[in-house]
Amino acid sequence: MVSLIDNPLRVGLQQDRIPEPQILIIFGASGDLTQRKLVPALYQMKQERRLPPELTIVGVARRDWSHEFFREHLREGIDGYGGGIGNEAVWQDFARGLFYCSGNIDQPESYHRLKAFLSELDESRGTRGNRVFYLSVAPRFFGEATQQLGDAGMLADPSKQRLVIEKPFGKDLATARVLNRVVQKVCREEQIYRIDHYLGKETVQNLMVFRFANAIFEPLWNRQFVDHIQITVSETVGLEGRAGYYETAGALRDMVQNHLMQLFSLTAMEAPNSLDADSIRNEKVKVLQVTRLADLDDLSLCASRGQYAPGWMKGEAVPGYRSEEGASDESTTPTYAALKLVVDNWRWKGVPFYLRTGKRMPKKVSEISIHFKEVPFMMFQSAAKQLNHNVLALRIQPNEGISMRFEVKTPGNSLRTRSVAMDFRYDAAFGKPSTEAYGRLLVDCMLGDQTLFTRGDEVEASWRLLTPVLEVWDAPAPPDAIPLYEAGTWGPVEAELLLNRDRRRWRRL
Ligand code: BG6
Repeated sequence: MVSLIDNPLRVGLQQDRIPEPQILIIFGASGDLTQRKLVPALYQMKQERRLPPELTIVGVARRDWSHEFFREHLREGIDGYGGGIGNEAVWQDFARGLFYCSGNIDQPESYHRLKAFLSELDESRGTRGNRVFYLSVAPRFFGEATQQLGDAGMLADPSKQRLVIEKPFGKDLATARVLNRVVQKVCREEQIYRIDHYLGKETVQNLMVFRFANAIFEPLWNRQFVDHIQITVSETVGLEGRAGYYETAGALRDMVQNHLMQLFSLTAMEAPNSLDADSIRNEKVKVLQVTRLADLDDLSLCASRGQYAPGWMKGEAVPGYRSEEGASDESTTPTYAALKLVVDNWRWKGVPFYLRTGKRMPKKVSEISIHFKEVPFMMFQSAAKQLNHNVLALRIQPNEGISMRFEVKTPGNSLRTRSVAMDFRYDAAFGKPSTEAYGRLLVDCMLGDQTLFTRGDEVEASWRLLTPVLEVWDAPAPPDAIPLYEAGTWGPVEAELLLNRDRRRWRRL
């Protein structure tokens, strides 16, 4: 029997090493991501003693804040969005390593000032010149900030200086290529960490363990046994005051190109030769390269979009997208997207992958479901009407776990069948909440482990796949070009048709 402790896959995916002393410099530090996600996640890592004691965080943004104000602002974030401060002494120790340095993305002087400040901190905090620069700024500044960091000589040493870039990386294939060229000119690929926080989620990492550490599932994981696969990432939230960004992004750029494509490629890829970053990323790129939209001649058969209209969420009336602050009242930005993809290789020929994501849906759920084929011969004629396909569901969030649906006979004299589920729940098995995704990823970056980050060619491959849809959806169109769905429902009718046409339907969640 293989125990969890002895399993080499577990050891490989789960590092517990402590990074070297270093400075994490966050550009755009006055924004929500820093206060709500990055710093609460780092604080959790601090509490779990997974950070070096010397870790120093420098926030950079335009506002004129003091170190003290920045610390207080972050403390509120940990209280409000993280797990709370806990032991005051731990907070005091953490807070001593928090600094703020105001600066402008486009002004070389700001970088020189920052550089001098970082050298001082190396002296006072013992951080030895190790740096992680995190670009949590509006995507249009990624190129400029990288260039300026390069010009200021702050990315010159690949062994000590790393660059983290948030999503979306480009806004289509052409811009992603240009951005890749800019960053790859300034630094080496091994210094670049394109972050996708879905890869930091415990259950996403578990996908590989589930597929490749178990002998019984992989033989079924192909066109011989699988009818189709569904990937759903539904959210209850609406625009959340992010119109400035979201109006130019929409669901395809905000969720599909990155998070859903990651879930897709981990589900569809072949087994890597080893657990090193490049073996895994090679397999992900390979499968993306042979994946395409199911019907390139008629997009309406393989892509569906929608935008939320006013509706009800948990008994409360919520406005439609066009009435949200900052959104245009004629906006055609999709808040919902569904795609039908096919993979041209031996494993998946003829097995469609249906992907969907949307805001203002009835539930927040991220799930991958593998729908198996019907039994080849139906003996139970009388029960056949009720017979369901077997479904293996990998629940990414919430209620993280795995469940298998199969048919059983209901007790009694007549031969009736019913679907039941065999469930594995993370919380029941391990009893502790999983680490916040960003914490895991930041520690990996400080350790120089790129496994859970997206490589340049991978980003390009996923943009390439979406290009035909982007070309049509981005074209100027009247407001009624986009189907609306009531907030609190599962999306537009057109998205139902995407599956109904194939005599299938979206899984009820
Ligand atoms: C972000 C998107 O990347 O992911 C947001 O920009 C979205 O629009 C969020 O709400 C969802 O992440 P999670 O971890 O809550 O599923």
